[in-house]
Amino acid sequence: MRITDFYNYKKPGSKISMITAYDHTLASIAAESAVDCVLVGDSLAMVMHGHPSTIAATPDLMALHTAAVAGAVKNKLVIGDMPFLSARKGLGHAMDTVEKLARAGAQAVKIEGLDGQAEIISHIIQSDMPVMGHLGLTPQSVNRLGGYRTQGRDQASAEKLVNDALELERLGCFALVLECVPAALAGRVTALLKVPVIGIGAGALTDGQVLVMQDLLGLYGEPPSFVKKYLDGRRLVTEALNNFDGEVKNSVFPAAKRKDHENSERDTAVAAAPYGAAVRR
Ligand code: KIV
Repeated sequence: MRITDFYNYKKPGSKISMITAYDHTLASIAAESAVDCVLVGDSLAMVMHGHPSTIAATPDLMALHTAAVAGAVKNKLVIGDMPFLSARKGLGHAMDTVEKLARAGAQAVKIEGLDGQAEIISHIIQSDMPVMGHLGLTPQSVNRLGGYRTQGRDQASAEKLVNDALELERLGCFALVLECVPAALAGRVTALLKVPVIGIGAGALTDGQVLVMQDLLGLYGEPPSFVKKYLDGRRLVTEALNNFDGEVKNSVFPAAKRKDHENSERDTAVAAAPYGAAVRR
């Protein structure tokens, strides 16, 4: 999927699937999967680094993870998140961040919110870096919002969200993420916009859905209620680790005596290049 394909998804029966990835291993699995595009979300501050919010993500950290993901994903659009304050410290700083993410391999950036950023968003787009908007629950605003709560519940905030979405489209955003808003409001915005709207915790009426990969795989603690776990990953990985532990302690692994044909050239190669690199080649 290329950036130019996005508009083709704006029709009934056509849905976009977007998944987050932060590291080379899971990104390479995303690359082999059918999902349409990959977001290097600033949620990596929480999921990969254990911070309590996304505020800890910096441009350099985002660029590091973007490079790891982009190195593995050659066949899909890779979008890099502009982290907290990166579009708020003036045009120069914003463009430095865009440059870092683009040089790391992002083909587009995602920016949370609109207020006070219209000029910068427009400049980034005119500089040939596509921008994905992000409205509703914008996690970088957690301190102002007083927690991770559904947004756009009252008339005034719903109207503001609709107007902001239209303005982001007018500025040239190629898509919009709507996070944690009532399904009816997400449906209204989706119907109004010509660009695709990708929802998360925003019901079924959007043009697509995005999830954090570790949530979908059941790896990262207890996910929000809107997440569907497609794998009980935490239990499966724990089971595998416990099996390994048991086999080591009971001298089952490694087998004391290996069959002759197993002591081959391949073992020599693995010893020379550990961590699975030689095995995959
Ligand atoms: O940072 C992130 O992962 C995100 C998605 C959940 C939309 O912004």
